[in-house]
Amino acid sequence: MKSFAPDRPAEILLVDLNDDVLHPEPLQLSKDIDAPSFNPHGLSVYIDERDGTVYLFVVNHPIPDYNSCIEIFKFDEKQKFLLHLKTIKHPLLQSVNDIVAVGPESFYATNDYYFESVPMKFVEGFLGLKWTNVVYYSPRDVREVALGLYSGNGIAISNDKKFIYAVDLTAHTINVYEKHANWTLTPVKAVHVDTCADNLFVDPVTGDIWTGAHPNLHKILFYKDEDPPLSEVIRIQKIHSDRPVVTRVYVNNGSVIQGSSVAAVYKKKLIIGTVFHKALYCQLD
Ligand SMILES: *[C@@H]1O[C@H](CO)[C@@H](O)[C@H](O)[C@H]1NC(C)=O
Ligand SMILES: *[C@@H]1O[C@H](CO)[C@@H](O)[C@H](O)[C@H]1NC(C)=O
Repeated sequence: MKSFAPDRPAEILLVDLNDDVLHPEPLQLSKDIDAPSFNPHGLSVYIDERDGTVYLFVVNHPIPDYNSCIEIFKFDEKQKFLLHLKTIKHPLLQSVNDIVAVGPESFYATNDYYFESVPMKFVEGFLGLKWTNVVYYSPRDVREVALGLYSGNGIAISNDKKFIYAVDLTAHTINVYEKHANWTLTPVKAVHVDTCADNLFVDPVTGDIWTGAHPNLHKILFYKDEDPPLSEVIRIQKIHSDRPVVTRVYVNNGSVIQGSSVAAVYKKKLIIGTVFHKALYCQLD
């Protein structure tokens, strides 16, 4: 994929949305994380209610093999430090796109491809196979809990912890699953968003679902300076009702921001992240 800073090492940035002017700062990582091969993708935070410990789960595709693994860190807010606790690899976590942490060592993950090898991924995309899935992972129990997606992508949990939302990127849907006490998922519905949604963010106050989306995925994969990828932010309200409300909140042709992949809200502010471009900080009306 395109990179505007091919020589810059991977970073995980912390930004305080209480500031009027944002100052993203890179977090320091444990020494056992190999900086040149570290290649973070999706991430998720889990806060342990019992003692307030903040865990950060990161999907990693280490260079040069890109084989998926999940890194779990403990976040030290004072030192702005990520202490590496463990690396998780599993045959069912073959091509992980995103995760949502549901415990200090457990998570749901989407696989975006069934095959691991790059040539087979092309074949898979070309044939349009519905072979990607959602996997539940805990140290004692790893299972496929949802299947039949063309290309699993962003995943999130509802505020009441009863539902999992997972994107099927190329089906243009956000899929809703009921989560059971034994961690299995039952499909509830698929909401059409008419675009390639990427990552999901659930507003902790309203429960609305926000996503950064790609109106034209092709422009992300085959980047051209003169015809850059577009950006789109979609909000889904009342997803559990008979009539979910899907609103296009922002759209840009690439002149301001390219390849939006996530949209998070906090106190009437919206921050839009991208696959390889900038982040855009907006005031909501
Ligand atoms: C999990 O719980 C659901 C709902 O109670 C039940 O239908 C299902 O059979 C259970 N599955 C397993 C593998 O225990
Ligand atoms: C995008 O829109 C701006 C103005 O809104 C225009 O000047 C520019 O030519 C457009 N770019 C592309 C690539 O269409």
